[in-house]
Amino acid sequence: MKNKIIIAIDGHSSTGKSTAAKQLAAHLHYVYVDTGAMYRAVAFFALSENMIKEDQLDRVALVDQLPSLTIYFKHNPVTDRADVYLNDKNIEKDIRTLEVSNTVSQIAAISEVRAKLVEQQKAMGKEKGIVMDGRDIGSVVFPEAELKIFMTADPEVRAQRRYDELTGRGDHVSYDEVLKNVLERDHIDSTREDSPLVQLPDAKLLDTSHMNREEQFEQLVRWSKEAINKASA
Ligand code: DC
Repeated sequence: MKNKIIIAIDGHSSTGKSTAAKQLAAHLHYVYVDTGAMYRAVAFFALSENMIKEDQLDRVALVDQLPSLTIYFKHNPVTDRADVYLNDKNIEKDIRTLEVSNTVSQIAAISEVRAKLVEQQKAMGKEKGIVMDGRDIGSVVFPEAELKIFMTADPEVRAQRRYDELTGRGDHVSYDEVLKNVLERDHIDSTREDSPLVQLPDAKLLDTSHMNREEQFEQLVRWSKEAINKASA
């Protein structure tokens, strides 16, 4: 019996992290956790409670309300995916809008928000056998992870992918505004004080600019097998 390990996947937004991580977890029969969805859930909450006016977040009000937020994942038998819930409401569709994307980096820079979500994420990895993706998984949530991966791609390639995804489901957005959002999020995620996105020296680099999904998946499986064998030796 092979030992179960923790696989931490970090990287820039719209690199295909979630798709690849989900596919890898299913292949290994591991649990998959999309931590970006948890930060998006808090951003959705702040937006629906009108805590953001003219791009200005009422940080005090949000931090005040944090203890009342319950965020969790529940398997959806129709899509065979885990949907994110906020206080017992399925908000999976609500968290993928450009409005949420435009505010989530601001929310993710708040230390109190991070502390709450990181605590929950650490607990999810207690049994190992988990693939978790985000920005600080290898650096903060699971510094002890047996396999760390850093995913990136050229900003223009990432913007095109996100644009195709949004317009594909009927959202009216322009390529330029999507590219602007990608660049802005890169900047905020990498320069914030608390847990900035960094490429760790012990992380394997996966640049997906010129790779299709199958090639990404094959590379991830190769690295995972190596790490699982090493942990089981
Ligand atoms: O992966 P995503 O695009 O759904 O993430 C949404 C935002 O949440 C992103 O701008 C950065 C932030 N995030 C974070 O700060 N830490 C994580 N572990 C995951 C996401």
